[in-house]
Amino acid sequence: MASTEDKAANKENVSSWKDSIYNPRTGELLGRTASSWALILLFYLVFYCFLAGMFALTMWVMLLTLDDYVPRYRDRVPEPGLVIRPNSLDITFNKSDSKNYRTYVNHLESFLQRYNDSMQENNADCIPGEYYMQDGGEMTKKVCPFRRTSLSLCSGLSDTDFGYQEGKPCVLLKMNRIIGLKPIGDPYINCTVKKDHPVQMHYFPSEGRIDKMYFPYYGKKAHENYMQPLVAVKLLLTKEDYNKELAVECRVEGTNLRNNDERDKFLGRVTFRVKVVE
Ligand SMILES: *[C@@H]1O[C@H](CO)[C@@H](O)[C@H](O)[C@H]1NC(C)=O
Ligand SMILES: *[C@@H]1O[C@H](CO)[C@@H](O)[C@H](O)[C@H]1NC(C)=O
Ligand SMILES: *[C@@H]1O[C@H](CO)[C@@H](O)[C@H](O)[C@H]1NC(C)=O
Repeated sequence: MASTEDKAANKENVSSWKDSIYNPRTGELLGRTASSWALILLFYLVFYCFLAGMFALTMWVMLLTLDDYVPRYRDRVPEPGLVIRPNSLDITFNKSDSKNYRTYVNHLESFLQRYNDSMQENNADCIPGEYYMQDGGEMTKKVCPFRRTSLSLCSGLSDTDFGYQEGKPCVLLKMNRIIGLKPIGDPYINCTVKKDHPVQMHYFPSEGRIDKMYFPYYGKKAHENYMQPLVAVKLLLTKEDYNKELAVECRVEGTNLRNNDERDKFLGRVTFRVKVVE
């Protein structure tokens, strides 16, 4: 007796479990009728469309308030880092083997292409030693020329090997572009070799000066053809300096820009290694 009762109960259980998925008597699927399901799906469809619409609307309103020419948030002008070309912090080459330093020379040559004097004939005449302020008026800012010839022996024009062949390599330095930066004072680059006896260096333009007329920079879109000022340093290495790894440190000096931050080794300075073999 007991066993048949159990069976009946079991059967009922199974059928009620099946009913909870699909009940043929009421036509309910998972406890809801088809029309109830349709309503609930409709509700969620409308609800999510509304959310997506809200999102798109707020995004659109926010984008309307942005200006392509002026960055929106500028609470503080950041400090620029210093970078070198060729783009390597470890410049090692055999001065007797032109294949060996070809990549450095090619890199410098292609980097300087847009500094060709002929490319800059239409640039503005700027007054050396003064910021070139262009806050009012035109959306597109004028550009001060930086002529390749001002790099003299490091321009790649008179010496197409940039000194690598004679073992007195040129390195180009530039500050990162910072929108709105106006360095106080007269910025110049000073490089030193960490070594017992000092290494002679030649700077181009003279004294490694960075003219104030290249500041401020107005941003990628407003200042599209901006010429970043460069300083070239030619390391006048001698035979005694060959086959040694020399650590060269260059800093931006003469300004309020930071160049001795302990946490950031590239803020206003850069250290690279040079090794020449013959
Ligand atoms: C540098 O290149 C020259 C010419 O190819 C070669 O004779 C010399 O051994 C090279 N020096 C070193 C240190 O590899
Ligand atoms: C830049 O000048 C160099 C040397 O005079 C020349 O070889 C090169 O073709 C010029 N590049 C452009 C883009 O005018
Ligand atoms: C360049 O830096 C060295 C080492 O810090 C210093 O002795 C020298 O006076 C500096 N030269 C100039 C022109 O600032």
